[in-house]
Amino acid sequence: MACAKASILPEGIAVVSVAHHLQNPFPLMSTPEAGKPVYNVKNPCIAKVKRMFDLSGPGAPKHTAHYEIDLAGSGLEYTPGDSLAVQPTNDPQLVADTLAALGFSGDEIVKHPKNGTEVPIRQALIEATLITEIDNKLIKALVEKTGGNTPLAELSQPEKKEELKNYLWGRFVIDLLLEHPTAKFTPEEFMATQRKLNIRLYSISSSQKAHPDEVHLTVATVRYTSHGRARGGVASTFLAERVTVGETLIPCFVNHGKGFRLPEPQDETPIIMCGPGTGIAPFRAFLEERKATNAKGKAWLFFGEVSEKTCFFYKEEFEAYLADGTLTKLTTAWSRDQAAKIYVQNRMLEHAAEFWQYLEQGAIFYVCGDASRMAADVDKALHTIIEQQGGKSPEEAAAYVQAMKDAKRYRRDVY
Ligand SMILES: Cc1cc2nc3c(=O)[nH]c(=O)nc-3n(C[C@H](O)[C@H](O)[C@H](O)COP(=O)(O)OP(=O)(O)OC[C@H]3O[C@@H](n4cnc5c(N)ncnc54)[C@H](O)[C@@H]3O)c2cc1C
Ligand SMILES: NC(=O)c1ccc[n+]([C@@H]2O[C@H](COP(=O)([O-])OP(=O)(O)OC[C@H]3O[C@@H](n4cnc5c(N)ncnc54)[C@H](OP(=O)(O)O)[C@@H]3O)[C@@H](O)[C@H]2O)c1
Repeated sequence: MACAKASILPEGIAVVSVAHHLQNPFPLMSTPEAGKPVYNVKNPCIAKVKRMFDLSGPGAPKHTAHYEIDLAGSGLEYTPGDSLAVQPTNDPQLVADTLAALGFSGDEIVKHPKNGTEVPIRQALIEATLITEIDNKLIKALVEKTGGNTPLAELSQPEKKEELKNYLWGRFVIDLLLEHPTAKFTPEEFMATQRKLNIRLYSISSSQKAHPDEVHLTVATVRYTSHGRARGGVASTFLAERVTVGETLIPCFVNHGKGFRLPEPQDETPIIMCGPGTGIAPFRAFLEERKATNAKGKAWLFFGEVSEKTCFFYKEEFEAYLADGTLTKLTTAWSRDQAAKIYVQNRMLEHAAEFWQYLEQGAIFYVCGDASRMAADVDKALHTIIEQQGGKSPEEAAAYVQAMKDAKRYRRDVY
């Protein structure tokens, strides 16, 4: 059995807590049906990766990979549009460096932050503490232990919130420890300054109709350098660097995204999917589902990445869907293949007349991916198309978009 129903977790697997990383607009829900296991944050499915491969090619500016998680025997069920919550562990080297900065051997016994059992502090740090972010409790302790002889004393004044945020940007717990060598902690004191390591959500990129015993993810590996140290995002580097196929246990559960759903297969409503970068994930799932259900209605996919040569994720699959009619139209935007950036919203505007036809035929417009810039820019392009093609004022276009939202024809899953 690849994925076990785990009410008592195997040794080394922590019960997880859900906090700020759960930014999904759709709430966590369990649907206990007779005889079906209910996996959730307290009772995750313990699964293993059965296959993984790079989606980005050599020379790509960032690494993105495809992960296939084995669900055989688990009873875990999902629908395209759902996301998978994954509980990662920390990088053991970062934990070793953090312990060295604390002057600990790693064998000191502390309470596991998630299940209260007594474990070596090394294990607690690997499994359950957010050593890549700074909690106010650590700042307060450092101010106290240095007698206020630290820039943190000034920065922790209420009016300095923004300066403190900037100071902490790109710093891990280890940085603050190294910057305050005179501040000494007991293991218990240190543990009391730490937040819990939470799950991360990933849009599911497969359909269970196509892969009954698998769930697929499409994940960009977060890597950067700050303050002279190479760093990684906890969960994305866990998947990319610390998971061994067929071995590493991965606690996970489904976060049901009820709002991000395909129309019924017999429904002729056209769909437009806009998913640059890892935003492609739910749309790969949608296309697999459409193929498996022989869905009617037109389907138009906008995909954008930095370069056609290195980042055309799932190219062969999408081309096959175009050939067999699962996908009606594929429009790509390669941002760095020419001097001026070309983004998905530029392509939407280039195809404004056809985009407007789709809208007037009642199309559902789905957007997934970057919330910080892409989603706002795509929204702006949508308004522009409605104004220009529909001959509407900005206010009328806004009302048109609002009507789309009210009718659940404009759905976004952005992060
Ligand atoms: C509903 C939903 C669906 C999602 N789907 C996907 C998906 O399909 N694929 C996907 O890849 N991701 C997806 N995400 C994002 C994913 O959940 C994680 O946030 C992402 O993988 C990063 O997690 P991490 O643990 O690797 O990084 P973390 O350990 O959380 O680190 C990220 C943090 O590192 C810091 N940071 C990053 N870059 C820099 C820098 N240059 N300088 C300084 N600090 C920096 C920032 O504080 C940032 O918040 C989704 C998120 C949500 C909410
Ligand atoms: N919270 C986190 O820790 C975390 C971690 C991973 C990802 N994310 C979010 O998820 C997003 C997705 O990351 P990703 O690696 O999948 O891809 P991405 O960074 O969104 O990049 C995908 C494509 O979108 C382009 N792009 C950049 N700005 C855009 C804009 N304003 N409008 C439209 N397209 C734009 C990029 O071009 P250029 O790069 O050439 O400009 C690239 O071609 C990230 O941007 C980030 O916001 C968050």
